[in-house]
Amino acid sequence: MSSARLEITRPDDWHLHLRDGAALGAVVADTARQFARAIVMPNLKPPVTTVAQAEAYRGRILAGLPADTRFQPLMTLYLTEATVPDEIARAKASGFVHAVKYYPAGATTNSQAGVRDLAHVYPVLEAMERHRLPLLMHGEVTDPAVDIFDREQAFIERHLIPLRARFPQLRMVLEHITTRAAAEFIREAPAHVGATITAHHLLLNRNAIFEGGIRPHHYCLPVLKRETHRQALLEAATNGDPHFFLGTDSAPHAQHAKEAACGCAGIYTAHAAIELYAEAFDSLGKLDRLEAFASFHGPDFYGLPRNADKITLERKPWTVPDTLPFGDSVCVPFRAGQDVAWSLA
Ligand code: DOR
Ligand code: ZN
Repeated sequence: MSSARLEITRPDDWHLHLRDGAALGAVVADTARQFARAIVMPNLKPPVTTVAQAEAYRGRILAGLPADTRFQPLMTLYLTEATVPDEIARAKASGFVHAVKYYPAGATTNSQAGVRDLAHVYPVLEAMERHRLPLLMHGEVTDPAVDIFDREQAFIERHLIPLRARFPQLRMVLEHITTRAAAEFIREAPAHVGATITAHHLLLNRNAIFEGGIRPHHYCLPVLKRETHRQALLEAATNGDPHFFLGTDSAPHAQHAKEAACGCAGIYTAHAAIELYAEAFDSLGKLDRLEAFASFHGPDFYGLPRNADKITLERKPWTVPDTLPFGDSVCVPFRAGQDVAWSLA
């Protein structure tokens, strides 16, 4: 397909970091411009662990939105070893909490309060299985003996396969998959097990972290992988398989927090998300598969209606600013100073 315009059902982002306070105010409009809904990650400081905290956070997000938007934040709870099964019943009853996020303790940004031993949360997982509340997984082991490029595959072998066996009906999303092994595992799984794929993992391989020097703005977790894995992700995203759906993992950090001796993980893509996915799909001549991935598979998985309105993309390049406002600082967005080939009309 080589047409210069593409109309699709308005998409949703099934994995997003909106932060809080002034940072939230700076980024939420970027997402609301293109997406109708987003699954909002709970890794704030302190984390969003209760329905009451999720309700308050939701209120702050709604208050930070531009006046003319109908964007809906879909809230999540942060799973800790202190989470009680009753919180799951409350979450389900709330109508605004749509999932629970599992961070292995120490795996990534603000994951210190995460889970050390999955066995400690089995009663909570059992409640989630019963209430059909999805478990969203940061699927990487934290064992320092495992090479950082192998941590997703090790997670599948050590944790995901046993978890599937113990909780066969638990709805699960393996978030931001980065490897061929993950794509294959998910493809073979039943329909209540899915995966999100980011735009940056579709567009870059790990060479991008070291192109002419160290590139902190291409550092995220799970870290970018070899080209063969990127090819497997592109195949998974574009082949029409309903297991796979759009989740940007757009994760803004202040410029100084990334350009540092120990820089934070996270890539900001919300300013150009659907345009970047269009580029990735276009690279394979599969633009006709974008709508299902971006707008159908996610709501179908979560049991929510598909959006009724449309957006239009045009093959018209634009230049991404060098920086974007970010609270009292700035954030360096993906493709800063360079072109994105597609524009939102
Ligand atoms: O790169 C990442 N950034 N990966 C994560 O898992 C967390 C995220 C963040 O919150 O900054
Ligand atoms: Zn994330």
